[in-house]
Amino acid sequence: MSNTGDSVIVRFVTEDDKEGWQGLWRSFQDFYSVSFPNELDEFNFKRFLDPNVKMWAAVAVDSTSGKIIGMINFLSHMTTWDFKDKVYINDLYVDESSRVKGVGRELIQFVYEEADKLDTPNVYWCTDESNHRAQLLYTKIGYKAPKSLYKRNGY
Ligand SMILES: CC(C)(COP(=O)(O)OP(=O)(O)OC[C@H]1O[C@@H](n2cnc3c(N)ncnc32)[C@H](O)[C@@H]1OP(=O)(O)O)[C@@H](O)C(=O)NCCC(=O)NCCS
Repeated sequence: MSNTGDSVIVRFVTEDDKEGWQGLWRSFQDFYSVSFPNELDEFNFKRFLDPNVKMWAAVAVDSTSGKIIGMINFLSHMTTWDFKDKVYINDLYVDESSRVKGVGRELIQFVYEEADKLDTPNVYWCTDESNHRAQLLYTKIGYKAPKSLYKRNGY
């Protein structure tokens, strides 16, 4: 259930949202103690707006102030396990002052709805084992898959 009512609007990014998205993208990097080059911001934003690339970003906007208070980046990829693509949520971030008000849930709900529209309803994502706050939300909107994530050394 959404508890933001009409106070928050979730929609795909437009060209005008770059600065707002970028602010949250930087905070997201701080949260994960990583730092990507500024050129990657440009590269990502171009991909979000390119209708030929299956990578998107949506933002949550406070309808009173017009401020961007949340972002979610997601993409679609093929899988040998199905005829249909799967949707992967790459990044999710809600501004600290707007948390625990249902914004994160609405952002994931938006991805679910878009995935349904694309007829690729299989949506997944991962998080750090230590990210208990995020998992409080995730166990309500999805389920924890019995998997472990492995990576190539050095990546
Ligand atoms: C994780 C994050 C996106 C959650 O966003 P949010 O807007 O606070 O989450 P919501 O308010 O939509 O939470 C939805 C549910 O989770 C619960 N929840 C979320 N955070 C909680 C907290 N700190 N304490 C208790 N419950 C919490 C809420 O009770 C809510 O349940 P309800 O809808 O049944 O009432 C946000 O905390 C964040 O940006 N964290 C930093 C970045 C991060 O961890 N990103 C995810 C990386 S995978």
